[in-house]
Amino acid sequence: MKKLFLIIGAPGSGKTTDAQLIAERNPDKVVHYSTGDLLRAEVASGSELGQTIKSYIDNGNLVPLEIVIDTIKKAIEEADREVVLIDGFPRSVEQMEALDQMLKNSGDIQLLGVIEVVVSDETAKERVLGRGRGADDREEVFYNRMKVFKEPLPAIEQFYTAQNKLIKVDGERTIEEIVADIEKIIKEKAQI
Ligand SMILES: Nc1ncnc2c1ncn2[C@@H]1O[C@H](COP(=O)(O)OP(=O)(O)O)[C@@H](O)[C@H]1O
Ligand SMILES: [Mg+2]
Repeated sequence: MKKLFLIIGAPGSGKTTDAQLIAERNPDKVVHYSTGDLLRAEVASGSELGQTIKSYIDNGNLVPLEIVIDTIKKAIEEADREVVLIDGFPRSVEQMEALDQMLKNSGDIQLLGVIEVVVSDETAKERVLGRGRGADDREEVFYNRMKVFKEPLPAIEQFYTAQNKLIKVDGERTIEEIVADIEKIIKEKAQI
């Protein structure tokens, strides 16, 4: 049985960094995938699919459902540790529903928690514009990404709150504090 945790949050909330650190600290038990990094790896491969993905990323729009679901499915399948962390997913109601269906069809994956790293818009903006990762870290694109992030958020929060799976974490503290907090939640819930 794979124990799945999702980590969501605004662009620049630190969700990838946090999840990465937790996986590094628990190498035997925890594996981490960042949806954005997986999609960017496809772009970097130079494939035709990567070209399609790039056009969405560069404008701060969501990559189409089917591509994202394929990416997530592959990540979960290849995960060879007890606990699987995925950050940057779900980013829409349809992604959330597709995952729900996937979980219902699979006896092998258990969703144990959805952790939302909460930061203010100002903090998100400062961090994203400060890192300048690519075309999508420009100011206009940042505003679109925030809009795309916020629009489905209430529905996503409601859905996982009803399942008693949503945990909000204050992302405005030091990385050390945030990571310690999330790691504790994961260890308790996964009993590792
Ligand atoms: N779940 C997803 N569904 C659709 N597109 C996604 C998803 N996750 C990432 N992307 C694409 O990758 C871009 C960058 O995402 P990501 O690296 O997660 O940013 P950040 O870590 O700053 O939140 C998004 O703006 C979007 O184009
Ligand atoms: Mg990220």
